[in-house]
Amino acid sequence: MLVGGFGTRLLPLTETVPKPLVPLAGRPIIDYLLDVAPHDAEVVFTLSYSGEEIRSYLESREDSDRFIFVDEEEPLGTGGAIKNCAEHLDEEFMVFNGDIISDLDSKAMIDFHHANEGIGTIALREVEDPTRFGVVDMDGDRITSFVEKPPDPPTNLINAGMYVLGPEILDMIPEGKVSIEREVFPKAVEHGLFGFRFDGLWTDVGTLPSYLLAMNDLLERRVSRGEISEPVLVAPDASVESELTAPVDVGKGARIGKGCRIRNCAILEGAVVGDGAVVDSAIVSPGAVVREKDVIAASILGRSGERI
Ligand code: GDD
Ligand code: MG
Repeated sequence: MLVGGFGTRLLPLTETVPKPLVPLAGRPIIDYLLDVAPHDAEVVFTLSYSGEEIRSYLESREDSDRFIFVDEEEPLGTGGAIKNCAEHLDEEFMVFNGDIISDLDSKAMIDFHHANEGIGTIALREVEDPTRFGVVDMDGDRITSFVEKPPDPPTNLINAGMYVLGPEILDMIPEGKVSIEREVFPKAVEHGLFGFRFDGLWTDVGTLPSYLLAMNDLLERRVSRGEISEPVLVAPDASVESELTAPVDVGKGARIGKGCRIRNCAILEGAVVGDGAVVDSAIVSPGAVVREKDVIAASILGRSGERI
């Protein structure tokens, strides 16, 4: 699991909470990844930025005896981070980008990988705007080209950030800082790289709009499972004195005063929203304070008051 990035596009939230631990619809992002990864596998975490905090959270989970932590002194990029774990990857392995919420069927993907006998299989999604992703061209199930964030994407099929790889791929990753997307996948196509398309839940929670979309999708799913009656989640010890317009997530110990307009947002653990404030299409970081009658719209409010 690649959990070493800075989470720059979620600043200032990620100044105080590392991205894998950012609460999303009531759980840290990393928990959703662990739902999808094979439950009987060892999991290697590539830690760099905020590594200690991520590790201490993971060690508090009941299944932590199958976790392995690998530290990265300097960020090595996605390929370098994988290579840095080589001693734990002598068999076939999966890779997960640390910011993907999905309901990928890992077992089906592994079976598909075995049937094709390639060097690797990349989970693929069709999206409207592929420009901020890795984009593939295909011949049947075979990937014929891979380009990272191309200005003129050849197709709408993108890298969903989850791979099944054979250990041979490690020999294709040079030492040092390496992007697997820019430096390895484009060359690996010659050695049999396959694409596993899937539908259902998939979001990259790298930005404010995608965070809010993922939150909505996850809350809607809980509604359809009958766990909540509308896409609004309020932690049991939160105090809310205003109406909430879905989707909304109010974290533990958060307080929302009277006469507020609260819509499409996450008010995270311990945050306080003063009377008459507006929070719309926004994230209020854990412990942050929205002053009375203040308006936080389409932005992220950090713990010490800065907003982006
Ligand atoms: N350990 C470690 N070291 N992890 C890293 C490093 C590093 O130097 N750099 C990035 N990561 C982790 C990030 O934390 C994230 O979980 C993952 O690698 C991917 O990095 P992002 O920064 O989120 O990349 P992206 O969103 O621009 O693009 C990637 O994801 C897209 C799907 O969401 C690429 O894989 C694209 O091809 C893909 O389409
Ligand atoms: Mg990302």
